[in-house]
Amino acid sequence: MGCLQNKQILVGVSGGIAAYKTPELVRRLRDRGAEVRVIMTSAAESFITSLSLQAVSGHPVHVAEMSADSESGMGHIDLARWADLILIAPTTANTMARLANGFGDELLTTVCLATSAPIALAPAMNQQMWSNAATQANLEKVKSIGMEVFGPGIGDQACGETGPGRMLEPDDLVACCEQLLTSLRQDGPLRGKHCLITAGPTVEHLDPVRAITNFSSGRMGYAIAAAANAAGADVTLVSGPVAIEAPANVTRISVKSAEEMRTAVLSKVADSDIFIGVAAVADYRPKSQATKKFKKNDDSMTVELVKNPDILSEVSAHKDRPFVVGFAAETDDLEKNALAKLKKKKLDMIAANKVGGSDSGFGDNPNALIVLTANGGRHELPMSDKNQLAQSLIALIGNNLPA
Ligand code: C5P
Repeated sequence: MGCLQNKQILVGVSGGIAAYKTPELVRRLRDRGAEVRVIMTSAAESFITSLSLQAVSGHPVHVAEMSADSESGMGHIDLARWADLILIAPTTANTMARLANGFGDELLTTVCLATSAPIALAPAMNQQMWSNAATQANLEKVKSIGMEVFGPGIGDQACGETGPGRMLEPDDLVACCEQLLTSLRQDGPLRGKHCLITAGPTVEHLDPVRAITNFSSGRMGYAIAAAANAAGADVTLVSGPVAIEAPANVTRISVKSAEEMRTAVLSKVADSDIFIGVAAVADYRPKSQATKKFKKNDDSMTVELVKNPDILSEVSAHKDRPFVVGFAAETDDLEKNALAKLKKKKLDMIAANKVGGSDSGFGDNPNALIVLTANGGRHELPMSDKNQLAQSLIALIGNNLPA
């Protein structure tokens, strides 16, 4: 799987003739497994229709101004948080000038101000405009504030002139995106680290067709696995049964019961620098499992349950103990219970989230975390999309690793 698999790429389109190549670019990005959303500036609408970009991206296109309409679906802050990468292709001289000077005069420029994702520009303009001192000064400025610039190419231009200013071809832009994400990964805070993560529910069989399980979707653990990978770690994800695909470049070991999860974790723990227990491990399992399906002969039945191993505590007690992070899903006394768990399980860090209410962090819902550390640190990660939250948690882990 390439590094664009499952990446969320926001393509910005500003008003240049090269916009006719943008649908092809969107298709190429999606061919590589990326999910693409598009924002057009008002000037772009003179060059290409939103309908073409909607057809190739598979999503409604966000157009120009911020409006009640555009904010009611995915608003500018949501788009800014959603993106793993923003690529503006084409970037006109005017849009580069606006970005260089921090304007938030349209949806696209506002999203660029509000994002923590990397921003890449694919300039496209007449060669004289490209060489103009003002454009060159803006180019230096966008680079100095951390934006990447892909191209431009040199050659024949739509205006009949020849020189620098051609937008790179869609395939070349895709290659530039891959290179950028790979190099960010190599410089990431978890570069060179081995990260072991548990996710999803466990399934404890009563008989061949019935089981005790829970409603964990696995989304938080999978988002953390993807964020750890993007931060440079080698990631092994030990997962209970879930309905989601493994993130790109993450090794998944699929398990069902807590016992299977424990065996898989213990086989990898000595090689790991970081362990993050996100799985909703069943606390108890049936004492015995019937080999044949139960018959409903009696009016009631009793199932004897026995305690499952606490995988997180075992990892903490391991002689080659990694940096250990646990999760505490609590319906009440969130912080107090999380702190008690941090101490009892001898963790380095615990992420506490409230479950059970209308703001429950289960499934697709956004989530918020309070993160406590063994040395008394306390950090609040506000309610946000699970991918964003996962990135913030991974950044915190990176900052707290022993030197
Ligand atoms: O004790 P409690 O189940 O609330 O602790 C939650 C934390 O412990 C989570 O990080 C979870 O993945 C982990 N855990 C575990 N093995 C268990 C129970 C919980 O690893 N049997």
